[in-house]
Amino acid sequence: MASYGRDRLPVFLDCDPGIDDAFALMVLLGSPGVELLGISTVGGNVPVELTCENARRILELCGRAQVPVAAGRAQPLAKTLVSAEEVHGRDGLGNINLPSPTVPEAAGGGVSLLIDKLLAVPRAILLATAPLTNVAVALQEHPEISGHIQRIVWMGGSTGFGNVTPAAEYNAWADPEAARQVIRSGVPFVMVGLNVTHQVALDRSTLAHYRTLGNPVAETAARMLDFYVTFHEQEAGTDRSPIHDAVAAVAAIYPASLRTVSYPVDVETKGEITEGATVVDLRGLHSDQPRIEVGLEADAGFHLEVMADSLASFSAA
Ligand code: BDR
Ligand code: CA
Repeated sequence: MASYGRDRLPVFLDCDPGIDDAFALMVLLGSPGVELLGISTVGGNVPVELTCENARRILELCGRAQVPVAAGRAQPLAKTLVSAEEVHGRDGLGNINLPSPTVPEAAGGGVSLLIDKLLAVPRAILLATAPLTNVAVALQEHPEISGHIQRIVWMGGSTGFGNVTPAAEYNAWADPEAARQVIRSGVPFVMVGLNVTHQVALDRSTLAHYRTLGNPVAETAARMLDFYVTFHEQEAGTDRSPIHDAVAAVAAIYPASLRTVSYPVDVETKGEITEGATVVDLRGLHSDQPRIEVGLEADAGFHLEVMADSLASFSAA
């Protein structure tokens, strides 16, 4: 098994939990030495009030309630939110009835939290596992935060196939204007698209392993992922389930575990059948858009091992 160096920079997470967002958060919290500055949530898989509650539910489950969380934008920049309860459950966490959070959200809202936490450190990784609405607004309102972002690592987009439509991935499609703005901002940007996340699939045997770890975090992960795997079984006829946001989390912590190539990328905002498509100029010949790092290949074995090790780390707590 290959091993890769861990990035030492602190991480700020923007997310919409969402089962795979919640799992990504568990992976961050269970990875040794990762400093999590805070969490902003956005309307996405479920409405923003619920994404904010869910982030706090997971933090409390993991014994990390002191990490500040706040709800950001409820709606995309220019369209109405279309949520994804069919993938994530009515509660966004696979209908597992996790207790309500006891710690209130941070004052001031998610966009302010994101701005304040980034400005407070020289450099951080901004990990975004959701529509990019909060990030776009933050960059509009306080462009000086770009000097504090070493890179944005985004789960979103694709070099090819989509999931919400044949052409578009959900996070790009849910707020294509925001995705376009952030990609065009010039802030260093790593796209962890479907073409990568489909390389890292968990299945029923993975969940069985998580259950043997014998701690409440791993048990909760297995319960919520059961719903997620069932969705993929019904949709695609296989229990192999791409665990999108957790792949972006591992790629953020261990950058060398993801092979990337720099390409010009833009986002289709108005297409008749291609709205939300991330158009990657794979030959680099046709576009004057900014180049971003496009993820092409993840070390799937390593990613799955980091995820399992993160869950196992809660056994010692
Ligand atoms: C992305 O969309 C959401 O449903 C998931 O949480 C993930 O961020 C995958 O397309
Ligand atoms: Ca997500």
